[in-house]
Amino acid sequence: MKHLIAPSILAADFGNLQRDIEMLNHSEAEWIHVDVMDGMFVPNISFGFPVIEAVKKHARKPLDVHLMIADPDRYIERFAAAGAEVITVHYEACTHLHRTIEAIHAAGCKAGVALNPHTPVQLLEDVLEFLDLALIMSVNPGFGGQKFIPNTYKKIAALRQLAGGSSAALVIEVDGGVDTANIAALKKAGANAFVAGSAVFAAEDPAAKIAELNRTAAVAFDLHA
Ligand code: DX5
Ligand code: ZN
Repeated sequence: MKHLIAPSILAADFGNLQRDIEMLNHSEAEWIHVDVMDGMFVPNISFGFPVIEAVKKHARKPLDVHLMIADPDRYIERFAAAGAEVITVHYEACTHLHRTIEAIHAAGCKAGVALNPHTPVQLLEDVLEFLDLALIMSVNPGFGGQKFIPNTYKKIAALRQLAGGSSAALVIEVDGGVDTANIAALKKAGANAFVAGSAVFAAEDPAAKIAELNRTAAVAFDLHA
């Protein structure tokens, strides 16, 4: 199964954002993960449209926008206009999830749904066929640098099974506490997109860290080849 690394700019140096984006452009990262927090759905505020537009100006890779915001339907078109290629909303934040997924596609983006650590993957069953991506949170959303929750492995494996057959192309992304210590096991469980914030940006050589994550995931014995 093909996999990709999506470094999260939440852990970047915002005073040197252009430098960090250029680093990602020249690295083995395939997507750039963009964490939007509204201080309502999660107890933290990150950044909004002006920052995303600035990132887009320099990024040579797709922006994977993770919306940790209440009622995201209000802003889908604006995130698409700001340069998102993938838009992921939270299951817990949407009353009419199917409509939201349709709105993301209508805006020309790939559609993802994220699940908090307490939300069972089975709740995605009736929207799976419409999804490009499912994001399994392996920490409670809101902050970078938190400890990975091991229950995530079981959720990923169950979701990969649920997505078998007609949804086999589903991207299963894992977000929170991902590092070289767990990325191979996460790939083995069935994930194929890996968000890494602090692991990448706290490293002495972030581009080398991205390459190491990529390599470590690649050598995982692949049950889903
Ligand atoms: C958490 C965000 C993550 C975060 C990951 O709410 O969704 O994308 O940046 O950071 P690390 O890799 O440091 O756990
Ligand atoms: Zn995220």
